[in-house]
Amino acid sequence: MSSLEKVFTPIEIKGLKIPNRIVFPPTDTNFGTADGFVTKRELNYYNQISGGGSGLTIVGASAVMENGRGFPNILNVYADRYIEGLSKLFAVIKRNGSVPAIQLSHAGRQAWMPSFEPVAPSPIPCTLKSEGQGLVMEMAKPRELSLTEIEEIEDAFAEAAVRAKKAGAEFIEFHGCHGYLIHQFLSPLSNKRTDDYGGILENRARFIVNIIMKTRESVGENFPLCCRISAEGRVEGDLTLEESKKLALMLIEAGIDVLHISSGRFENIDYISPTREIGECVNVPLAEGIKECVDVPIIVVGAIFDLKTAEKIIEEGKADMVALGRAQIADPEIVNKSKRGEFDSIVKCTVCNECGLSLYMEPGIRCVVNKNLPKISPETLRIRV
Ligand SMILES: Cc1cc2nc3c(=O)[nH]c(=O)nc-3n(C[C@H](O)[C@H](O)[C@H](O)COP(=O)(O)O)c2cc1C
Repeated sequence: MSSLEKVFTPIEIKGLKIPNRIVFPPTDTNFGTADGFVTKRELNYYNQISGGGSGLTIVGASAVMENGRGFPNILNVYADRYIEGLSKLFAVIKRNGSVPAIQLSHAGRQAWMPSFEPVAPSPIPCTLKSEGQGLVMEMAKPRELSLTEIEEIEDAFAEAAVRAKKAGAEFIEFHGCHGYLIHQFLSPLSNKRTDDYGGILENRARFIVNIIMKTRESVGENFPLCCRISAEGRVEGDLTLEESKKLALMLIEAGIDVLHISSGRFENIDYISPTREIGECVNVPLAEGIKECVDVPIIVVGAIFDLKTAEKIIEEGKADMVALGRAQIADPEIVNKSKRGEFDSIVKCTVCNECGLSLYMEPGIRCVVNKNLPKISPETLRIRV
């Protein structure tokens, strides 16, 4: 283990023992069925990933309501009929020695459901922008949520958490970043409400605070809850680090045990999976800033591509756990190989972002260097398990 001592030191959160500090962050695959069930292909994917050694494997954004689905073939958690497939998925992860977790999500105005009118705190459409790709895409104008609907979505998060727990998830993350519905409430750019859910930060945070409190009440005290935030929106007028520090304290007060620090939103999508031009370790200063004012474990994500860098981040006290997304998609064995000191055999992510771009294509994510990602074949083709 030698130089990776910190990375391979287990961490305990609310009595849950996580065997090492490397996280597989939520990455939607689009491998599910069109109605959100787990497929054999999804099981194969998470088997590859969790078999590679990450301590915590967070299943990608999964919908708490039908109108909150972010991509056409993501997983659903909004009805009991999804528990069976999710149980098989979490069992695969657990069998591999990784802690099974799931990210619960509502995409709000970023939903990908042509048959639904998108909803949001305010009727302001999102403009997806990537400077790197030269892309500007105007999304549909959302309808403003009523107070009753907001409360229904808060309840839906709590109910989905109970289902995920029943299915075997041992850790739940709320998708509070990247311009999804929780972030839409948090940001003055997308939240112009004049009621209790808009205006000052305490009001804009009411939605996520209520979600956390309702979930805590439903899942019990000893169950780890995490919130992923964009600690900086990377767009003028969005959350700043200083505001996120105050937000972090509110989330902890409401019942959050772990904070997962990302940045960016659809309007500056290049920061979500940072492009080569944006650079590496871009969210580490944000994680460090939040860590200075809270006492819960911090996960940092964003263009961290190897375990030696992860070790340094933890050693320097800038975060407690490190998430490697594209690096593990490129080589799911990166954690095991690093543990064995086989650094030369690691297949490196080329930061081409083909995985992210292919999310928008029906067959699911692709990787230019990992040719073993589960493909469509007669056995794996969108057959629900
Ligand atoms: C294919 C793909 C799917 C993703 N899906 C999600 C998701 O469901 N929820 C989320 O919060 N972030 C998602 N992300 C962002 C990643 O979790 C991660 O924050 C980002 O890729 C930066 O980490 P990395 O540089 O280690 O890849 C996705 C990224 C990729 C490439």
